[in-house]
Amino acid sequence: MTHERDTDLQADIGDILVSEAEIAAKVVELGARITHDYGGRRVTLVSVLKGSLPFMADLMRAIDLPLRIDLMEVSSYGGSTTESSGLVRILKDLSASIEGEDVLIVEDIIDTGLTLNYLIRYLRGKNPASLRICTLLDKPARRLVEIPVDYTGFTIPDQFVVGYGLDYGELYRNLPFVGVLRPEVYGEGEPVEGEPA
Ligand code: IMP
Ligand code: MG
Repeated sequence: MTHERDTDLQADIGDILVSEAEIAAKVVELGARITHDYGGRRVTLVSVLKGSLPFMADLMRAIDLPLRIDLMEVSSYGGSTTESSGLVRILKDLSASIEGEDVLIVEDIIDTGLTLNYLIRYLRGKNPASLRICTLLDKPARRLVEIPVDYTGFTIPDQFVVGYGLDYGELYRNLPFVGVLRPEVYGEGEPVEGEPA
């Protein structure tokens, strides 16, 4: 379904990088791969709020396994507007133990990788049976630490994107596609790192 919207939000978008239909097809493809790879084992999806909320909601319904979900919210702090600092504050922790569980982290986007690098170490410390990563978007150009990504939706160029959960200043998360934010919208000419993941 294509949404025609006549809001200012839509006008702030330059190119649509990933359409609603492309996202839907990719979610089905990733869900089938995950279903196959886990071979009937129970999996716990850990979504990193708020950006991965739509992806999580769609992906979980494309996975045919016994499945639990948990939600974390983290925010990086202390960095500049364009670089994460790698210091991550946990705003919302897991609500159940993941010890001995097969855990799949569900992320919206991996940029520098600093947030996920922290999260991986944090979750490994809780002794899951396995820990894998699924991200909708990957921006490898800006990677500062190597991240072992198991499932990637789309690899995108180094542009600041919004929509399908991704925000700029907490807005645009409700757009059904992933689009490039027009540079003039950032204001001072400096693209801003979305603070909360
Ligand atoms: P990292 O620690 O640099 O990998 O940052 C990852 C987080 O930064 C993501 O979870 C997003 O919240 C945010 N982020 C990175 N790139 C973008 C973007 O292009 N648009 C919106 N948010 C972004
Ligand atoms: Mg963000």
